[in-house]
Amino acid sequence: MKLLKSAIVTAGVLLLSGCADITKDKETVFVEELLKRMTLEEKIGQMNQVNWNGNYSHVKKGMVGSVLNVTNINELIEMQRCAVEESRLGIPVLISRDVIHGYRTMFPIPLGQAATFNPELVEKGARVAAIEASSDGIRWTFAPMVDISRDARWGRIAESCGEDQYLTSVMGDAMVKGFQGDDLSSPTSIAACVKHFVGYGAAEGGRDYNSTGLTENVLRNVYLKPFESACSAGAATYMTSFNDNDGIPASANEFILRSVLRNEWGFDGVVVSDWGSIAEMVPHGFAENRKSAAMKSVNAGVDMEMESRSYIENIAELVNEKKVSERDIDNSVRNILRLKYRLGLFENPYVDPNSNVVYAPDHLQAAKQAATQATILLKNNNRTLPLNEGRIKSVTITGPMAHAKHDQMGTWSFDGEKEKTVTPLEAIGDMLGDKIKIIYEPGLAYSRDNDKTGINKAVKAAQQTDATIVFVGEEAILSGEAHSLSNLDFVGAQSELISALTATGKPVVMVVMAGRPLTIGNEIDKCDAVLYSFHPGTMGGPALADLIFGKAVPSGKTPVTFPKTVGQIPVYYNHNMTGRPANRNETLMCDIPVEAGQTSLGCTSFYLDSGFDPLYPFGYGLSYTTFEYEGVKLNSVNFGKNDIITAVCTIKNTGDYEADEVVQLYTRDLVGSINRPVRELKGFKRVSLKPGESKEVTFELPVSELAFWNRNMQYAVEEGEFHLWISPNSKSGQPVSFRVD
Ligand code: BGC
Repeated sequence: MKLLKSAIVTAGVLLLSGCADITKDKETVFVEELLKRMTLEEKIGQMNQVNWNGNYSHVKKGMVGSVLNVTNINELIEMQRCAVEESRLGIPVLISRDVIHGYRTMFPIPLGQAATFNPELVEKGARVAAIEASSDGIRWTFAPMVDISRDARWGRIAESCGEDQYLTSVMGDAMVKGFQGDDLSSPTSIAACVKHFVGYGAAEGGRDYNSTGLTENVLRNVYLKPFESACSAGAATYMTSFNDNDGIPASANEFILRSVLRNEWGFDGVVVSDWGSIAEMVPHGFAENRKSAAMKSVNAGVDMEMESRSYIENIAELVNEKKVSERDIDNSVRNILRLKYRLGLFENPYVDPNSNVVYAPDHLQAAKQAATQATILLKNNNRTLPLNEGRIKSVTITGPMAHAKHDQMGTWSFDGEKEKTVTPLEAIGDMLGDKIKIIYEPGLAYSRDNDKTGINKAVKAAQQTDATIVFVGEEAILSGEAHSLSNLDFVGAQSELISALTATGKPVVMVVMAGRPLTIGNEIDKCDAVLYSFHPGTMGGPALADLIFGKAVPSGKTPVTFPKTVGQIPVYYNHNMTGRPANRNETLMCDIPVEAGQTSLGCTSFYLDSGFDPLYPFGYGLSYTTFEYEGVKLNSVNFGKNDIITAVCTIKNTGDYEADEVVQLYTRDLVGSINRPVRELKGFKRVSLKPGESKEVTFELPVSELAFWNRNMQYAVEEGEFHLWISPNSKSGQPVSFRVD
């Protein structure tokens, strides 16, 4: 047995040492040779992923293909030793963990990272996470999550890149590249897992795990887009989602998993189920028992089962009964072995227990830069911000998020350490403690705190100082998986705290740290300036201190529409037009005359109590400076389907701060074989401008990028008239027209 194993390992090493152009063949030979030697039980073992439970004997028996959540490095090495040295074929185990927005060094939550509109920075964040995680033996992460999220009630909006398929695609691709690096076999590369396939973000009512009812048209034009893009970016794995779409649970959807993913996109990596999602087809009412669930998932093309044991307990019997084919099992095992081969695990299965790269200075620097660029300036009346340390002699720092070391890290910070988090209170103290007087009165102990006794103390402090900075928002636990809300107002007594502080008449800067957009228009109205920072991670404090005191200038833009009220949800910028669009002079409820006639309001599409517009549109964010956009120039007004549109706009910094602006390109297809969105993001660029400086910003847009899945479910550009904008957000700017013929 020993001989066989070492022969395989030697063959593997020899095969790995050849030139690049024959790598694929070597990979195939290696995988096929190994597959031939495997028993059915060993194959089924590869398809089994377990939450680490200390069961080394299962590993020795070859019953485990992958583990998740081994947190002790010595156990991890011992577990791998059991697989490599004591299992019959010595196949290494693939070690996985949710490394979503950082491993130890926590970056802003993905929604915040999307707000940077800076894919290079997002890629760097994923690279840092990969370097840190792989130094602890992790070679597979369950990220990026590229679920389109148009509903802020859904707690997992925090983990998403927001509502737009283009932005999500760009950011998802950047994360894939960052996690996987240039070469998957490098010891610092970790396989990405694009999740949750598919439609999960459209959960009815924003309630996690709930059903979705997406048509093929909406799936293809919106929800599948970032998944397809990640496939082209080389994503190694996909995860099926928990939801049923149109009655079919994702882990049994062979149309998505076989026809689309494998046949249309040519994916040759691994598909893993979500945690327990195969067995959960029983409570769904889609399978009678776990055996039938296993059969449906194997037949649909799910290669590996995460955690729920339906595969390991039932596949052998299902093969004997000919309810699943050994050919499908072989294909799944091929995918798994191929991934392990590509990760270099056969050659190099062990992690060096002495490598320690966490919290490297450049990791912290990148996390700070990400938190800085992720922060969105929503309001700045009378140029309240930046606070000027020369003019302000004293400041009150208050609010439950001012010094919330744990909560600032956000959801999915399994391995983040709160001791390492630098809060705004600490950072402002470090920056200015010896220059100005700082009074800290939290007011409330945590976001849900309803004990108002601290509010008076905060107000007294505010009365004595020149300005107040109130840090409010949500604790990390209020967003993320299974943490949906039906009300998005401030929790606890935060609203009362803000009212009491603003009643002092002193300038109040509100800084919101949250996992989602909150419906806080009333509080925003009361404050002089507002910064919105989706949970910003380890270095959130220094980033915010720099922004508040003018050492950095805000440049984040909203990656999702901010609703005024929960009732406006779903609200997103790239909606279709109704036949009766709202005009901007809607009569709201309070202005309706008594006994007004039924049709007197004009019969358009809006809410009587909140109108049509959201609180803030997609792509919105202010700066300490101002930017002027000149008219857009196109290289032509008539294009053929193979042409490239060149759109140019000059942007001028008309204020007095050097700053970045995120310049956005949108188009609209005016008439289609199906209704087309009122605007679609097609590109963006982050541009740095000195005061008074102008730059020409050029976008090259191939006409082919105007294609969509049409009425006949074909992906094509349709002829006709289009509009194009280059603008600072999804609502503003004047379009120019062109035709495609
Ligand atoms: C989540 C996944 C996650 C998995 C493993 C599930 O509950 O939906 O996103 O990767 O657990 O922790």
